[in-house]
Amino acid sequence: MSEQKKVTIQRLRAMKRAGEKLGVLTAYDASFARILDEAGADILLVGDSLGMVIKGEKNTLGVKLEEVLYHCRAVSGATRRAHVVGDLPFMSYQCSEDEAVRSAGRLVAEGGVQSVKLEGGADYAEVARRIWRAGIPVMGHVGLTPQSVHRMGGFVLQGRGQEEARRILDDALAMEQAGCYAMVLEGIPAELAGEITRRLSIPTIGIGAGPHCDGQVLVCYDALGMNPDFSPRFLKLYANLAQSIGDAARAYLREVREGSFPAAEHTFQGQPYSSGGPKTEG
Ligand code: KIV
Repeated sequence: MSEQKKVTIQRLRAMKRAGEKLGVLTAYDASFARILDEAGADILLVGDSLGMVIKGEKNTLGVKLEEVLYHCRAVSGATRRAHVVGDLPFMSYQCSEDEAVRSAGRLVAEGGVQSVKLEGGADYAEVARRIWRAGIPVMGHVGLTPQSVHRMGGFVLQGRGQEEARRILDDALAMEQAGCYAMVLEGIPAELAGEITRRLSIPTIGIGAGPHCDGQVLVCYDALGMNPDFSPRFLKLYANLAQSIGDAARAYLREVREGSFPAAEHTFQGQPYSSGGPKTEG
């Protein structure tokens, strides 16, 4: 396999300057990470959305730093080219700047990621600045911030009125000023996302924020159709894995029950399971 250059924050900034769109997906394990990396994702985000799509919870609030760490290790070990971002979960950075630096440091040192993401605007500028000063790049996240679901009164569009829109723009500017290298814009009107994208010199990455951002992110399980019950308007299904996996499982179970699997050629040759890690040379 040819040597692939790791995507750096400098490269991501250069992409914005060159008008190249950033393609971002979430990833939670080695098998998916390898496929998404080889498909050419610029960034793989180990999102705290894992609380919902991996743990089956109704929001991200129960996700622990240890859990994000576990998934970061799996993803970073299987990723060669994409920039890997670890999401700081609820209560891993809100209580003090020291704790925030420590949590971010663990994601980098133990989880192997190249940067961290945190939710919040001007109120978190000092936290982002401290993490950046510790040598760790920070991706910001403003607009609909899922860790504040109770304050927002649900997963609802943010930045509708002029005052709200102004606050979100100010939040994004404050986080850029604090050193963030990129900014997720979630659940805001497309015109506001466009305005923020024009005003920031760092790349914006939208989800449910329209087409004017410098890049887009989707939760990979959602984009790949793992949950047929989840179909918000901002989402496009690029596959129907729920259907494919169900069909494959039914075929396998049928063959096991009728005795046609394993057949004569399915013999054991010293390789018990597949590995999700990167392909080995040669
Ligand atoms: O946790 C996550 O996956 C995210 C993205 C949806 C931006 O924050």
